[in-house]
Amino acid sequence: MQERDPLAEQWNGKRLGVEGVKKELGFDMAFNGSEFMNLNIDFTSFDKVSFFDFNNDVRDKRGDADLFDLIRSFKIKAEYPADYSATKQQLYTRIQSTDVENSANVAQTLGRYLNYDAKLKEDELLSGFMNAKDDAIRSEIKQKVSLKLKANNLDSSMISEIMSTLRETKTEEEMVLLKKAVEISAVGQVEVMKAMHPNMSETEIQGVHEYVYKKYGAEYEGYPSIVGGGNNGCILHYIENNKTQVGNDLVLMDLGAEYHGYTADVTRTIPANGKFSPEQKQIYDIVYDAQEAGIKASTVGAPFQAPGSASSEVIAEGLMKLGIIKEAKEARTYFPHGTSHYLGLDVHDKGTYGPFQANTVITVEPGIYIPEGSDCDKKWWGIAVRIEDDILITDNGPVNLSAGAPRTTEAIEAVMKQPSPLDDFVLPNLD
Ligand code: GLY
Ligand code: MN
Ligand code: MN
Repeated sequence: MQERDPLAEQWNGKRLGVEGVKKELGFDMAFNGSEFMNLNIDFTSFDKVSFFDFNNDVRDKRGDADLFDLIRSFKIKAEYPADYSATKQQLYTRIQSTDVENSANVAQTLGRYLNYDAKLKEDELLSGFMNAKDDAIRSEIKQKVSLKLKANNLDSSMISEIMSTLRETKTEEEMVLLKKAVEISAVGQVEVMKAMHPNMSETEIQGVHEYVYKKYGAEYEGYPSIVGGGNNGCILHYIENNKTQVGNDLVLMDLGAEYHGYTADVTRTIPANGKFSPEQKQIYDIVYDAQEAGIKASTVGAPFQAPGSASSEVIAEGLMKLGIIKEAKEARTYFPHGTSHYLGLDVHDKGTYGPFQANTVITVEPGIYIPEGSDCDKKWWGIAVRIEDDILITDNGPVNLSAGAPRTTEAIEAVMKQPSPLDDFVLPNLD
C-alpha cells in the first residue's frame, strides 16, 4: 500500500492505508510499500517464481517504495537476469519439450520468431537449433537448453495460462456486474435511437451514450467509443468521431460501458434519418442473418471458431447474391475482422480458445464495410454495418445479454420514431 500521507491525500485523494485495506477490502495481510520491498523472501527456495514479464514502462516517481522500486527490488531478490526475455524462455521450453520426431518442425517454427527479432536471433542456442542440420545436433542443443532453463526458477508463462482459464468462465458474482454493464450499454443504444437526427454530430452521439452510462453509475467506457457516420464506419477502429453532421447515412456505434471493472461491447448501426434505404437494408439484413447464425453456433462444446465460420458463410453468400463479390473467398475484403472475442474484465478478454464452456461470455459481431471506391456498384459505397451482441454461453444454449437494444431493421425504425427527452434539450446558440 501507499503509506498514509495527509498532504498527498489533500491534493490527490484518500489512501486506504494498511488498516483500511484489511478492513474495507478484506485482505488478511497488507504491507506498506517500503515494508513489502524489504521483506526478506528467499526466492531460490521456490520451485517456480511466476510473474507477468515486465514491459519496463514504469517510471521512478517520488517516493522510495513506489511500483518502480518494488519491481526493482523483486528483480534483485529473484535474480532476474538483465537479458531476460519471456519469448526466449517460451522458445526454450518448447525445445525442451519436443521429441525427436517433431524437432525439425519446432526448428521451422523458431524461424518465424527469430526472423522478426534480431535480439532472439543473437541467441546461440535458438539460432543453433533453427539452423541445425540433423536430429543429433538438435538433441545436443536440447540438452544445453535444459541446463539453461534449470539455471533459474523464473516462469513468465504460467500466470498467463492460469488467467486465461480463470477469466474464460465467469462466476455468479462476475455475471451480476457484466450483465449490468451490458444492459446499461443496451439502454444507451435505445436512447440514442430515440434521440438521433441527421443534424447530430458523431461526438454528440457519443456523448449521449456516455451520459447514459454515467447516469447508471458506470465509471468508464470499456474502450474508446466508436461512432462512424457513412464511410467513417468502414474504419474499424474509428475513434476520432469528428464528423459534424451525420446526414442521411448509416451511423455505426460501437460503445460499451465499464461497470465496476467489467466491460460491455455492443454495436448498433442505424439510419440517421430513421429509415433504412433499400441498399442499406439489403446489406444490413445480410449482417443480421450472419449474426443470427453466429449466435446459434455459440454452444457448449463448439470450437471457438464456430460463430465465425457460421457468420462468414452467410456473409459470403449474401455478397455473392448481390453481385458485390464473385467468389466466397473475396468476402474477406468486406468482412476483414474476426467475429468473436471473450468479454469480461477486458473488452478483448483472456481465454483458452478451446471448445466453448458454460458461463463464457463472447461477442458475436459480423460486419460488412464497403468503403468509397470499392470494386463494386457505386450504390453500395459508404455503407458500413456491424451488429455486435454480448452472448452468454450456457448449457441451455446462447443467451443474448444485449437483447435490450433492438436489432432488426423494423424494430430499430420503430424505436427511432419514439420521442426522446433530448428533443427538448435546447442549448443557447453561441454563434
Ligand atoms: N469494440 C472493439 C471490438 O468490437 O472488438
Ligand atoms: Mn468486440
Ligand atoms: Mn465492439
